[in-house]
Amino acid sequence: MIQSVLPDVAAVQRIASIPSLLATVAQITGLRFTCIARVTPESWTACAVLDQLGMGLLPNATRAVGTTLCDLVRTSGKALVIDAASTDPAFKAHPIPAQFGFESFISVPIRRQNGDYFGTLSGIDPLPKNLSGTAALASMTLFAELISQQLSSQQVLEETQVALLDARETSELREQFIAVLGHDLRNPLGTIITGAELMLLSLGDEKKLTILAKLVQGSGKRMAALVDDVVDLTRGKMGGGIPLNLAPHADLGDALRQVVEELRSTYPQRDIRLEAHALGTVLCDAPRLAQLCSNLLKNALVYGDTSKPVGVAAHVADDALELAVTNHGPRMSDDTVAHLFKPYWRAAAKSPHEGLGLGLFIVGEIARSHGGTMTVSSSDELTTFLFRLPCHQHGASAAWPPTAAPHHAGIP
Ligand SMILES: Nc1ncnc2c1ncn2[C@@H]1O[C@H](COP(=O)(O)OP(=O)(O)OP(=O)(O)O)[C@@H](O)[C@H]1O
Ligand SMILES: [Mg+2]
Repeated sequence: MIQSVLPDVAAVQRIASIPSLLATVAQITGLRFTCIARVTPESWTACAVLDQLGMGLLPNATRAVGTTLCDLVRTSGKALVIDAASTDPAFKAHPIPAQFGFESFISVPIRRQNGDYFGTLSGIDPLPKNLSGTAALASMTLFAELISQQLSSQQVLEETQVALLDARETSELREQFIAVLGHDLRNPLGTIITGAELMLLSLGDEKKLTILAKLVQGSGKRMAALVDDVVDLTRGKMGGGIPLNLAPHADLGDALRQVVEELRSTYPQRDIRLEAHALGTVLCDAPRLAQLCSNLLKNALVYGDTSKPVGVAAHVADDALELAVTNHGPRMSDDTVAHLFKPYWRAAAKSPHEGLGLGLFIVGEIARSHGGTMTVSSSDELTTFLFRLPCHQHGASAAWPPTAAPHHAGIP
């Protein structure tokens, strides 16, 4: 059986000075087996071992804590020193020294810097040793404190490194975001400027003016949508979430149909299948749920297999509204799924679509503000983004007639 190394045990093993520390302990005490152990109320685990006796006990070996004298150190919180077990009144009848064949023993507690118990620094030998009354105990206590300090500074260092990597990643993503935003705003802005210039040249030609005005209007709307996304990003990142206008909505199905119609007109060649029946009255912010659906559906159209249909299915089951958007396409890796809802994040090079990487962040924030959840499931064939809104959250359950509708909107 493969056993994973406990994080606490691994932390000790990453301290470079531990082998020489154990060698020094062996030299000072004369004990030929020295070790650092993680000791909990349940188990004793060797973190690092210096075994000059050939006992065969390796790092990561674990024992029931009751079979070790370290348990006495843990429960008393005090160091334990035995010069010769066979003549020590407290230990001559104790089963553990006889079982492991040692005479001399020393063990000092290791505490974390916050005072929590960590384990022991110990040594044993089959021969009696003169340990009590020497500097051995004071040295061992000092070493235990050094180990504790090392553990603490290593933890701080590792946390700082993780935070630094995270900050670096976020700042790279933010730079990309600004570049994409600039790029996305430049095109419609160019259209507006050129359109206005052409309009000035076409004064009096009503037909031409109408065409140009529509062009300018379309570009203006596109810019407004981009700015809205950036505003949503700021609201979401401020922690308060996206503000909602909650109201009982009897026609959520209609709102979803409208989203589907809009995207059908943008992608006329695509097969978009919608199933949304008898959703009842839902207490929600319908335009925001339409935005959630629109972002998911656009992604499904853009990133899924463009030769296959995509599906939108909404139904009410188990006192919850479920909205599933499904597309064909290769399985998304666990790493991709873990990043999807982060702002600015895009599966960069592979993406055929230059987006801001905000769509799913906004989806996640809308779901969160509603008290709902987003889950993603991705197989070799299908990818489904599922929004689930428990209706009792809004006290609307009585108004919801539960119906069962298939999840994948007719997608095989
Ligand atoms: N249905 C999907 N299948 C595969 N990959 C997806 C799917 N939906 C999203 N992704 C991946 O997740 C990334 C983030 O999606 P998101 O909607 O947040 O941003 P975007 O589509 O790149 O830009 P925006 O939505 O802001 O225009 C996408 O770039 C894409 O790589
Ligand atoms: Mg998107």
